[in-house]
Amino acid sequence: MVKLGVIVASVRETRVGLPIAEWFIRVAAANPAFEITLIDLKTINLPMLSEPDHPRLKKYTHPETQAWSATVAAHDAFVIVTPEYNHGAPPALINALDQLYQEWNYKPAGFVSYGGVSAGLRSVAMTKSILTTLKVVPIVEAVAIPNFPTLMDKDTGQFIGSEGLDKSALGMLKELARWASALRTLRA
Ligand SMILES: Cc1cc2nc3c(=O)[nH]c(=O)nc-3n(C[C@H](O)[C@H](O)[C@H](O)COP(=O)(O)O)c2cc1C
Repeated sequence: MVKLGVIVASVRETRVGLPIAEWFIRVAAANPAFEITLIDLKTINLPMLSEPDHPRLKKYTHPETQAWSATVAAHDAFVIVTPEYNHGAPPALINALDQLYQEWNYKPAGFVSYGGVSAGLRSVAMTKSILTTLKVVPIVEAVAIPNFPTLMDKDTGQFIGSEGLDKSALGMLKELARWASALRTLRA
């Protein structure tokens, strides 16, 4: 089984990131290769990076960083659910990535991004350069959701999705499983 962490990158009170992540997890349940955990950066509530040493030394002094280290270390692969803010990545996501190093190494990551016409893709592009520095392999297959408000259920606040998005999600997961299996060798 691949232990997959679905990271919710937005932490705003009224965020749509959570219902979109919940939709993705519902779709992903069709793939038995994964054991899925929701990693909600709002609940995790990391302080801004303030450790005295570089994360590669793993000399964490704050209990929040130690707990975050254990969470990331326990997963084999990630899907990052992200909007873009001002054509960039959410600050909570960048902060969460920067806090650790070895725990991310040699693991694959896919994206579910959402926004206006851009579908959040500028956040994905920005995050990819951080991920490669952390030796995370960002995969090409992705779920990109343009004009997300048209797919929200106004009464329940749930994300409805579509046949095409389900297909993208399942295609990305299939590829993510292959990468997770291959990269496990490098982590051994
Ligand atoms: C500070 C801020 C900047 C934004 N910048 C963009 C942007 O550059 N591109 C875009 O498509 N949407 C942008 N939006 C609109 C977001 O797509 C929309 O608010 C979305 O709900 C954000 O995701 P979240 O609800 O999960 O936080 C921005 C929203 C905020 C609050």
